[in-house]
Amino acid sequence: MKTVIEVNDLVRKFSTRGRPTKTAVGGISFDVGQGEIFGILGPNGAGKTTTIKMLSTLLIPTSGTARVLGYDVTDDRTVMDLRKRINVVSGGDRGLYYRLSAKQNLEFFADLYGIPKREQTEMCQKLLGMVGLMNAADIKVEDFSRGMKQRLHIARALVNDPELLFMDEPTIGLDPEISRSIRSVIRDLSRSGKTIILTTHYMYEAEELCDRMIILSRGNIVGKGTVAEIKDMVSDSSVVHIVTDRDPSEALKGFVSDPDMTVVSSRTVGGRYDTRFASASGKTDVGAHEDLFRPFGIRLIGLDEPTLEDAYIRLTGGDE
Ligand SMILES: Nc1ncnc2c1ncn2[C@@H]1O[C@H](COP(=O)(O)OP(=O)(O)O)[C@@H](O)[C@H]1O
Ligand SMILES: [Mg+2]
Repeated sequence: MKTVIEVNDLVRKFSTRGRPTKTAVGGISFDVGQGEIFGILGPNGAGKTTTIKMLSTLLIPTSGTARVLGYDVTDDRTVMDLRKRINVVSGGDRGLYYRLSAKQNLEFFADLYGIPKREQTEMCQKLLGMVGLMNAADIKVEDFSRGMKQRLHIARALVNDPELLFMDEPTIGLDPEISRSIRSVIRDLSRSGKTIILTTHYMYEAEELCDRMIILSRGNIVGKGTVAEIKDMVSDSSVVHIVTDRDPSEALKGFVSDPDMTVVSSRTVGGRYDTRFASASGKTDVGAHEDLFRPFGIRLIGLDEPTLEDAYIRLTGGDE
């Protein structure tokens, strides 16, 4: 597999007046192969966007190197050549013109890339088709739903037919149905041969889409590899899964002060309390836990294989 991104000990610090220097990315190294969907996972503030910005030449690294499609991202002589071959989808409300229709937006960006007018009509049709907006070509963006805007963001980023597409949390804040359709667009783009770098903090999204990934925590890589490899990193700790009739918060209080135990999730499902927790040292004595949770009415207790989410929470220390 050809390598399209090579990152070595990349660092980005921010200094804001009156405050200590903040290290957003603290020396990360990884490679991305051509055609991969590569995930950058991590909680808010982990350094995902900063990493994407450095790789897409929007932000200069403090130190370290990044080669993208063979170009050094800091080389001024080639930065325009590189920009022609990549693009970024960063969602949110910026980057689209609300008074213009979907088609007019795409034509505007096509002009920026110097695409001849006579090619634009066909190109717009094709791109709007790819993201499922063929019937919205003449609708103004101000009348778009959030999901439609996100699709148009993706179409906009395809105007220069990039080999490499950076997508920064492309489904954040979208409802589950729309997120699913966006994931399907991402999969289609990958099948069409594009390499995709995707940031997310949704584990199911990473599990569904990513060939390989890194997990960032406070600017450092705490996990790297395929989903299976990352789950293996925490295979020492089975996860205890308990379902109780009553809220077991009292029983979980002891875990908060115990550095060995991590509560990976606790939620209510169908009126019952569903709790998963792991022990870093692998102490998963179900008998002892059974005693602790008995007062809350145990419906189910057992050991589970760690899921990607369990691994993520262990590796990032449960940061939100
Ligand atoms: N322009 C900036 N100035 C100062 N600090 C910043 C700037 N951009 C990001 N940071 C800080 O760097 C850290 C990483 O941010 P970011 O890369 O946006 O994380 P993520 O995308 O994973 O949520 C955060 O602590 C954030 O506050
Ligand atoms: Mg971000």
